[in-house]
Amino acid sequence: MNIVVIGAGYVGLVTGCCLAEAGNRVICVDSDLKKIKALEAGHLPFYEPQLGDLLTIQRDSGRLIFEVSIEDAVEKADIVFLAVGTPANEDGSADLKNLLNCAKDLARVITSDCIVVVKSTVPVGTGEYIEKILNQSSERADRSDRKIRIRIASNPEFLAEGRAVQDFRHPDRIVIGAADPQCFAILEELYEPFDYDGQRLIFMDVRSAEFAKYACNSMLAARISMINELSGLAGALGAEISSICQVLEADPRIGGSYLHPGVGYGGSCLPKDLSALIYSAKRMGEPADMLRSIQRVNLSQRDRLLDAIREHFMGDLSSKKIAVWGLSFKPGTNDVRAAPSLTLIRDLVEDGACVHAYDPVAQQTANAALAETEVGFGKAAMDVCKDADALVVMTEWDEFKRPDFNVIKRQMRGNMIFDSRALYRPETLRKYGLKHYRLGQKRVI
Ligand code: NAD
Ligand code: UGA
Repeated sequence: MNIVVIGAGYVGLVTGCCLAEAGNRVICVDSDLKKIKALEAGHLPFYEPQLGDLLTIQRDSGRLIFEVSIEDAVEKADIVFLAVGTPANEDGSADLKNLLNCAKDLARVITSDCIVVVKSTVPVGTGEYIEKILNQSSERADRSDRKIRIRIASNPEFLAEGRAVQDFRHPDRIVIGAADPQCFAILEELYEPFDYDGQRLIFMDVRSAEFAKYACNSMLAARISMINELSGLAGALGAEISSICQVLEADPRIGGSYLHPGVGYGGSCLPKDLSALIYSAKRMGEPADMLRSIQRVNLSQRDRLLDAIREHFMGDLSSKKIAVWGLSFKPGTNDVRAAPSLTLIRDLVEDGACVHAYDPVAQQTANAALAETEVGFGKAAMDVCKDADALVVMTEWDEFKRPDFNVIKRQMRGNMIFDSRALYRPETLRKYGLKHYRLGQKRVI
């Protein structure tokens, strides 16, 4: 099929590359000319495992090309995917500006029948609104004077960064929302080459598909906030959360995923999707008490860590040197959108601390995001520990999991490790003369 994907970010580029790999002719469109030039040259604009090789192979095969102009791309399209960003506005609602601009552009330039598929995460009702925009000008006829037929579908994406290609090639579910049975048939054919269990191709109406995406991210966020709350409570009561997690995991009804306590969920999706759903609930007069609690608990995890650091230095961080390991919101990506590390660094610097940070792939993106904040970066993890009064581990990259504690001890001026991802055992650190703080650690009662 002839596919156009608008928005060549994490979702759009992965979609484009994987659909080209499945044998389709794909044009990826992005309004960012620099990005398009980089992609044409075979360079990934962000770090994502496996995507670089896939991009080169598909580009070289001629099945995948890049464009800045929507008009040039859509001429022969059977399916147009919308995969532009939908970040949060100040009030928590989803910012649909880019998406609606794309719809307006499409309405002007589509000249033949096609399906427009919304892959971006959008509030319930957005698909219907886009359909109206598209149909306003679909009164036009094609070259043979036939009325153009533009159908709309919702096909939310469930990939996670750091394993995006793998997730797209082997989806655990494919959700398609549409009103027209032909949309189901065409999209089923498109996804046929992918490795999913047939039972997991789920058809529904557009509104339900839009909501399903928010439901999934809310459920994931709920588990994280729940384990974080239990972890704090367990520590306060003198219980050990890692033992408790083993018990939870052993129950097949609970399972073990998204039960890793830490500094709270970050990233470009969970936080903004929760906010957008809470905003929608408010508009509909629904209380959304659970969703609000999930969000509150998430924010308080970061405060707990900052409070512990302040407490350790008795409220005076001025001229303290703090080493930070890990900047991306999770391992496997250089994405620092809503990364807990950045909030923490800003707070530490505001308190007068001198922060030196290291991340294996996210230093450039973090440097750009922290433009107003003075932070030093090191070439290696151990470099930033030199003369540090404390080390804060913010992302569980593999290289931080078994560091040489002898070297850390020698490099540091202080001896405190704030381990926000529970990577280390206090007994191990004690052997090296290092002190350990973990969120939810057992308190003496
Ligand atoms: P992104 O910011 O990485 O990419 C969006 C791209 O769209 C950018 O390259 C931008 O230049 C381009 N763009 C913006 N306006 C445009 C326009 N008018 N015309 C052409 N291009 C335009 O975003 P993302 O992380 O890929 O997320 C896209 C959507 O998918 C969001 O709704 C997000 O919630 C959802 N989603 C993201 C992920 C993820 O892991 N990142 C996973 C599932 C769903
Ligand atoms: C998440 C979902 O996992 C994807 O299914 C979804 O498609 C995507 O959002 C989206 O809608 O964009 P992602 O943001 O890439 O994917 O990251 P996750 O792996 O889900 O992690 C999110 C955050 O939760 C990270 O900050 C991570 O550190 C944290 N987390 C995760 C925990 O604190 N504990 C856990 O047990 C798991």
